[in-house]
Amino acid sequence: MPRSVSLATTIAGSSLTSCLYNASGPLCTTSEELDALGNSEAGAILSKSATLEPRAGNPEPRYVETAWGSINSMGLPNEGYRYYLEYARRAQSFGKPYFMSVSGLSHDDNIEIVRALAGEAAISAIELNLSCPNVPGKPQTGYDFEQSRALLERIFEYVDQPLGVKLPPYFDLPHFDMMAAVLNDFPIAFVTCVNSIGNGLVIDVQAESVVIKPKSGFGGIGGDFIKPTALANVRKFYTLLREDIAIIGCGGVKTGEDAFEHILCGASAVQIGTQLMREGVDCFARIAGELSTIMQAKGYRDIDSFRGKLKSLD
Ligand code: SIN
Repeated sequence: MPRSVSLATTIAGSSLTSCLYNASGPLCTTSEELDALGNSEAGAILSKSATLEPRAGNPEPRYVETAWGSINSMGLPNEGYRYYLEYARRAQSFGKPYFMSVSGLSHDDNIEIVRALAGEAAISAIELNLSCPNVPGKPQTGYDFEQSRALLERIFEYVDQPLGVKLPPYFDLPHFDMMAAVLNDFPIAFVTCVNSIGNGLVIDVQAESVVIKPKSGFGGIGGDFIKPTALANVRKFYTLLREDIAIIGCGGVKTGEDAFEHILCGASAVQIGTQLMREGVDCFARIAGELSTIMQAKGYRDIDSFRGKLKSLD
């Protein structure tokens, strides 16, 4: 990384030496995977979304890589929130923030988890997942504005750590306004845009079949196709949310240029999902190097020099 360039950022009051870290999903479920993130150049460690009890998730095959990205219907396989709470103490040895993703299967589960996490200083912040598309029978809370408000009202009675939310992608402009109106009413620290595009279908023409087993083949789409949607969500929420709410970009980041685009749209940090699954934790150093090279060529010393400064043509 060119020495004159800094990728440092601040999320929820925590300092990150690099604005690049993992999305909650791939390679962040076991302590070994979390250790690998800790030992990598990722700026933070984010856990797999935790439920109240451990879950095996959906039947396999449930994750398939394609030329353009991935389809998954993992179904929140995870070790249960107690495991990720326990891991928080170990995470401290890496000297970077540890964020815990929480995805209770009901409002009551989410409340119980955030109450149990209260007082745990080793958890730098909580990312509340409002957008998993893969649990049969459980709609994505983020598409229901009343339910999102009702959950946040209860959560903020109990939560101790700074809290952000992971949103599904929105596609209709009024929906951005409606969700922003909800979020602006709460002391939210950050918003992660976006989770996978839910319920896509990938087909194996040779076999004339779907490629994943759960939900008749329907699953969340990640990778190249999601980037324009992710950028639009980052940009919209950057313009609609209170200035103190940081935006974290997620979707279609394979290169330093992709990360640059997210930051230009307003992201204060950038998460990597499908590419992390494909390349492993070395992707953080590579993408950081590429981003630094672009910044140096453009004369930007830090990410605040260009964050949110996307130009329009009017
Ligand atoms: C999953 O475990 O199904 C993926 C997590 C998510 O999309 O939030």
